[in-house]
Amino acid sequence: MSRLAPEPVLAEAPNASPAAGAVPRHVAIIMDGNGRWAARRHLPRVAGHRAGAKAVRRTIAAAIDHGVAWLTLFAFSSENWRRPEGEVADLTGLLRQYLRTEVAELHRERVRLRIIGDRSRFGPEITRELSEAEALTRGNDRLQLIVALSYGGRSEIAAAARAIAEAAAAGRIDPATIDETSFGRFLFTADVPDPDLIIRTSGEYRVSNFLLWQSAYAEFVFPEILWPDFNAKHFEEALAEFARRDRRYGARSD
Ligand code: IPE
Ligand code: IPE
Ligand code: MG
Repeated sequence: MSRLAPEPVLAEAPNASPAAGAVPRHVAIIMDGNGRWAARRHLPRVAGHRAGAKAVRRTIAAAIDHGVAWLTLFAFSSENWRRPEGEVADLTGLLRQYLRTEVAELHRERVRLRIIGDRSRFGPEITRELSEAEALTRGNDRLQLIVALSYGGRSEIAAAARAIAEAAAAGRIDPATIDETSFGRFLFTADVPDPDLIIRTSGEYRVSNFLLWQSAYAEFVFPEILWPDFNAKHFEEALAEFARRDRRYGARSD
């Protein structure tokens, strides 16, 4: 697994994150409920995934409107390969279509796109298109959009441990110096601030292997809505809920 970013890290302390009342700097979303959305309409699951792609567009626009700097979208987990072959093919096809129709627009909107996860599992063509989209949008600074594809938090952490062990065995790292900050540099998110707010739609209250390390002090919001129905109003409500939270990071609040 390659690291996301070779550039210097920000190495943010958790308490450098936005305080209550502020706009979250980094919002991450577990976009769940496409299948149920389709089932309720007696449509095939792929119709739900297609409608989910429209919700992605709305959400990117809402993040820009609200001045959110980082948006991470969980689009496909490392466990989603376990789904029936037909559904995986539908999702892969939609990904390819999305790349071909949306990247130019993202670039026009000055959005920088990055991928976390094991992109190579989607095959050489999609791997190349993803890397080209990253290269094209590299200089953009309006919104940092991270899409998690074939991503799993545990495998990300295990890969980081493996890379550190290899570096230590080769004498490039002194094991005594390994701490949270240096460990974080081996993750995909090396130069990315931790998510402040994680939204999961569809009424499921679990993390499903998403950003396990990075979510240590994230605030969680669970809108009772299926992902294809998610819109700017739901995004705003999640930001409002975040603004009401009291982030303590283990310290006392009085
Ligand atoms: C989320 O919707 C999309 C992916 C996980 C790829 P689901 O496909 O999980 O929809 P539900 O949870 O079955 O309703
Ligand atoms: C999590 O949703 C992954 C994505 C949204 C991409 P799942 O639908 O795969 O998660 P589980 O299976 O309900 O935990
Ligand atoms: Mg689901």
